[in-house]
Amino acid sequence: MGKYILGIESSCDDTSAAIVEDGVLRSNIIASQKVHEAYGGVVPELASRAHQQNIIPVVHEAIRQAGIDRREITAIAFTLGPGLLGSLLVGVSFAKGLAMSLGIPIIEVNHLQAHVLAHFIRLPDADAPQPVFPFLCLLVSGGNSQIILVRTYSEMEVVGQTIDDAAGEAFDKCAKVIGLPYPGGPEVDRLAREGNPKAFRFSRPNVPGYDYSFSGLKTSFLYLLRDEIAKDSQFIDRNKADLCASLQSAIIDILMRKIKKVSLDYGIREVAIAGGVSANSGLRNAFREQATTSGWTVHIPPLAFTTDNAAMVAMSGYFKYLSGDFSSMQCSPFARQRI
Ligand code: KG4
Repeated sequence: MGKYILGIESSCDDTSAAIVEDGVLRSNIIASQKVHEAYGGVVPELASRAHQQNIIPVVHEAIRQAGIDRREITAIAFTLGPGLLGSLLVGVSFAKGLAMSLGIPIIEVNHLQAHVLAHFIRLPDADAPQPVFPFLCLLVSGGNSQIILVRTYSEMEVVGQTIDDAAGEAFDKCAKVIGLPYPGGPEVDRLAREGNPKAFRFSRPNVPGYDYSFSGLKTSFLYLLRDEIAKDSQFIDRNKADLCASLQSAIIDILMRKIKKVSLDYGIREVAIAGGVSANSGLRNAFREQATTSGWTVHIPPLAFTTDNAAMVAMSGYFKYLSGDFSSMQCSPFARQRI
């Protein structure tokens, strides 16, 4: 009989549940919370409430689409952290309650590791090549920007990271000041396709080692707007596409410089991207370019697995299940948790 792992993700503003059968994805349901759009960012209290409303129907649908009965579930994996505490509590408590009622074990999953392990999600009809250990993963999302050395499914080391804002925050905050809706990243990406990436030059930080920074870029973006709007009040509207293309190009440049440096110094050319910002078309192209120019073997996740999803949690749970790594009912979520 197959081993079925139910995965539950509730770390931020997506309520998601997925079923993995013997390492193959059977269902992946995501309820995204629209309630935050009006506020220009995630409101933690509203996120917790929306998770509470969504979790039962989302889990129910994941089980239904997998074509199984809930009594067939072998173990329940869930995101323990990092994330918003109130949001995490909904998923963790629900997972514990359901596991107790079914008499099955629970498996805690680190959200950041799950983003990395999204590269190992197997779909029923597709056999995409998976990364070979050791590999490097550029994890870029709304809350994190890290370069991770991945040795095994469970051994991961952060070798470089942002010292201030995450890449997604840089996209979202700059997008907000030019009037784009939240989250700004996808909007910048869309508009950047029609703009000139060389129209404006924003500052690149000079952070030693493998760390990077986005606060200087954000400030230089704001200063440019302030100076140009003083001369032309319609500046933003007249230059939106060019602003987006130039901003995106600067963010990609900052990210690529450091991951290229790590790749060279560590002698690893197996390189992956993960997290919400890995949906960015410019970043994906920059990675593909490295495959040709530097001989990288690149791993770019399908768009569905870039943002928060339970498929990656169920997959991570499956690997832990295989090594008998279960959690106790006393485990409790962490807002901050290292990889
Ligand atoms: O991993 P994720 O779903 O969750 C959080 O970290 O919360 O990442 C969300 C981030 C947001 O900042 C969003 O603007 C960014 O990913 N994002 C993008 C794109 N799609 C999502 N950034 C740039 N280009 C995109 N196409």
